[in-house]
Amino acid sequence: MNETLDQLMQSALAEIAGAASEDTLQELRVRYLGKKGELTAVMKGLGSLSPEERPRMGQMVNTVKDRLETTLEETLQRVRAAAKKERLERERLDVTLPGRTSPLGTKHPISLVIEEISDIFAGLGFQVAEGPEVELDFYNFEALNFPKDHPARDMQDTFFVDDDILLRTHTSPVQVRTMLKHAPPVRIISPGTVYRCDSDATHSPMFHQIEGFMVDKGVTFGDLKGILTNFVNQFFGAGTGVRLRPSFFPFTEPSAEVDIACVMCKGQGCRVCKQSGWLEILGAGMIDPEVYRHVGYDPESISGFAFGMGIERVAMLKYGIGDLRMFFDNDVRFLQQFR
Ligand code: DAH
Repeated sequence: MNETLDQLMQSALAEIAGAASEDTLQELRVRYLGKKGELTAVMKGLGSLSPEERPRMGQMVNTVKDRLETTLEETLQRVRAAAKKERLERERLDVTLPGRTSPLGTKHPISLVIEEISDIFAGLGFQVAEGPEVELDFYNFEALNFPKDHPARDMQDTFFVDDDILLRTHTSPVQVRTMLKHAPPVRIISPGTVYRCDSDATHSPMFHQIEGFMVDKGVTFGDLKGILTNFVNQFFGAGTGVRLRPSFFPFTEPSAEVDIACVMCKGQGCRVCKQSGWLEILGAGMIDPEVYRHVGYDPESISGFAFGMGIERVAMLKYGIGDLRMFFDNDVRFLQQFR
């Protein structure tokens, strides 16, 4: 065989053998067999040979061309198979494996109860307002008619940040904040966290309340009772008994404590209601003129009621939870039961 042709074939075969990818093989095909390829150049040169040499040389070129094409094709198949095998091993997928689930949390029962109560009051035309947990003495006490050194403050001992700044002891300061900002009529509920220096099976230093109040022309004590009875029937079930007892709060006059018929024994008397048949759920009353004076409302032309309810308390009654601390232990076995 012609020496140049032989060299060309040997180097082409060696390069093809060393190719590891489809792209390299494609490049080699172009380099040797393409329109401007090295073997193509030899074929083009055949014309300049003598008529005797031409057939022999032509045959040899064809043989080399066939050989290169077959080798390229075989190598291509091999490279493709190897690439596929490698990919399958790399991306091995076992479709029978269980999927990766991300555990789905549940809403905290306190949040659920806040949402449910807010929904009921929204249906009665109340809007939700919020206030700060770190509060000024003025909003928490002074404007609610708890004068400095008044004994009524003793029942709401709390954590002080400074002389005049404290962790709010109730949600009632939102009454003052709202009325200072908005002229009557107002119809607001305000859920939130409150704090007191108290800690046992039925008291937590941090707990939740929901405040409600309504001020307008001609609001009466009858409206208060009607709204609360409607709420109790929606939240605890139709026909649940409601009872108001006289009480005292510095910011309401008259004031009442509101009981519902015991949800455990339906008023028959049991351990939960201490045989009384009744359970206290909130404090309420007609807003005291002294409060209106602090917020610039005219007590001669409007009137209103307010109430404040303990969220943990009603949640415990509704779900039959025996210990307040369970709400804050963060035991998922407890929390998962509320969906
Ligand atoms: N803020 C009172 C407390 O935490 C509860 C309360 C009583 C709120 C009477 C009221 C109300 O709005 O009218 O003890």
